[in-house]
Amino acid sequence: MSEFRLETERLVLRAWRDADRDPFFVLNSDPAVMEYLPAIDRATSDNAVDRMNAAQAEHGHCFWAVERKADGAFLGFCGPMPARDPLHEVELGWRLSRDAWGAGYASEGARASLAWCWANLDTPTVMAITVPANRRSRAVMERIGMTYVEGADFDHPGVPKDDPLVRHVLYRSARPA
Ligand SMILES: CC(C)(COP(=O)(O)OP(=O)(O)OC[C@H]1O[C@@H](n2cnc3c(N)ncnc32)[C@H](O)[C@@H]1OP(=O)(O)O)[C@@H](O)C(=O)NCCC(=O)NCCS
Repeated sequence: MSEFRLETERLVLRAWRDADRDPFFVLNSDPAVMEYLPAIDRATSDNAVDRMNAAQAEHGHCFWAVERKADGAFLGFCGPMPARDPLHEVELGWRLSRDAWGAGYASEGARASLAWCWANLDTPTVMAITVPANRRSRAVMERIGMTYVEGADFDHPGVPKDDPLVRHVLYRSARPA
């Protein structure tokens, strides 16, 4: 079966390859990238890739690997994860290496991912979550037209209760009419 591939003007969003594991761990080891995310070790980073591969195999989508067309560089991930605990709704997510910020790549990938969801899934809504202080991630949500859902802030059950990263905000897009 051919590898999943979604092209945008400057990016390729694609299935994960084993060669992505090393640069993904480098990305996950950068304190700037992980400022609003729980720190992870090599095994957790590899497990995340395994989960992405499993989601892609079972559902046909995941937080896809992002490659820059111009030079083939692995930039990180962007895409729709299938509905899962705790929210049971398709979730758009993104994480790019620090040197790829500020170029519009996340918004470009996120916009294409959202369009892909409407074209290929029957879900009525797609959501995204982050901690309230993650201004850059919230800006991506707003740029692609997602709306902050008042009253939907929640404590993420995967984060310890006393961790400053436990509180999350939720944004959502509804299928265009
Ligand atoms: C969240 C994250 C992906 C956002 O990346 P980003 O580069 O800020 O987002 P965008 O791709 O939308 O880029 C927007 C910026 O590029 C600029 N830009 C430059 N060229 C552009 C172009 N051709 N098109 C659009 N924007 C462009 C915009 O002006 C904007 O700059 P600003 O931030 O100074 O206002 C990134 O900060 C990240 O990986 N963070 C760590 C992981 C994380 O927190 N993920 C979310 C957890 S839920």
